[in-house]
Amino acid sequence: MKVSIIGAGNVGASCAEYIAIGKIANEVILLDIKKGLSEGKALDLTQTSSTLGFDTFIKGVTDDYQSTKDSDVVVITSGIPRKPGMSREELIGINADIVNSVTENILKYSPNTIIVVVSNPMDTMTYLVLKSNKLNENRVIGMGGALDSSRFKTYLSKAINKPQSDIHAMVIGGHGDTTMIPLMRLASYNGIPISNFLSSEKQEEIISSTMIGGATLTKLLGTSAWYAPGASVSYLVDSILNNKKKIIPCSVYLEGQYGLNDICIGVPCVIGKNGVEEIIDLELNSTEKDKLKESAKAITLMNESLKNFI
Ligand code: LAC
Repeated sequence: MKVSIIGAGNVGASCAEYIAIGKIANEVILLDIKKGLSEGKALDLTQTSSTLGFDTFIKGVTDDYQSTKDSDVVVITSGIPRKPGMSREELIGINADIVNSVTENILKYSPNTIIVVVSNPMDTMTYLVLKSNKLNENRVIGMGGALDSSRFKTYLSKAINKPQSDIHAMVIGGHGDTTMIPLMRLASYNGIPISNFLSSEKQEEIISSTMIGGATLTKLLGTSAWYAPGASVSYLVDSILNNKKKIIPCSVYLEGQYGLNDICIGVPCVIGKNGVEEIIDLELNSTEKDKLKESAKAITLMNESLKNFI
């Protein structure tokens, strides 16, 4: 199984690392436009192979799309990352151009690949990849919900002082500081509603921390985060390549589901060898429905600035 990762920045490199360590694929191509960057990171990673015990072949290339030929999955991390104080939405113009040219190149050599989109603003870039290339909805997956859900679980686990592996929780909606919707009502501590263990003030605090989870890290690090984004992508890639059929909240194209149309937004999906194999139709209460509608409105508005790119 072959995975190509476009962009050898922090997220792309972490993603390659987790895919190798997790023995998720036997071949990883790391591609960047900056000469030497992906070659260096691939070589460095390869030198961890004997000590960490994996055999994944990792190759770094500079803008050489031919090396990505016949990839089963391609991950797009290209684009400029957020700087402190910047919203994901502010990246739209620059990143749309980059993502379009990357996608065109990918499809030239891997016409049937499944594409995982990481570039921000993620829901809009996912929509762009799908629309610009008229791809089937199952083949384009935005990874935001997987990441936001992992951040939600971290905050929940810290609050109740219990292991994250016992916590189930998801975030739907947009991958934006004001558009994401952490679903506290459905979060559980091993099947027990987690709200039983948290005051309503604490619940609100966790929801807010989750929503600004990325911004908090950008402020601390001076750039966008990479460990959790890289891990979330590798989790998604694992479910695709190994046909695990995990339920993962992802940004996917909706045509009527949740009452939404012509938009990519985060909802729970079954992810397997065909990419998005099923969109889970959650029964939302009226507050959650309203929030999702608001979130969709903001994303649709942002998608309008893609007119010159599609
Ligand atoms: C974040 C970026 C990857 O949320 O969107 O950290």
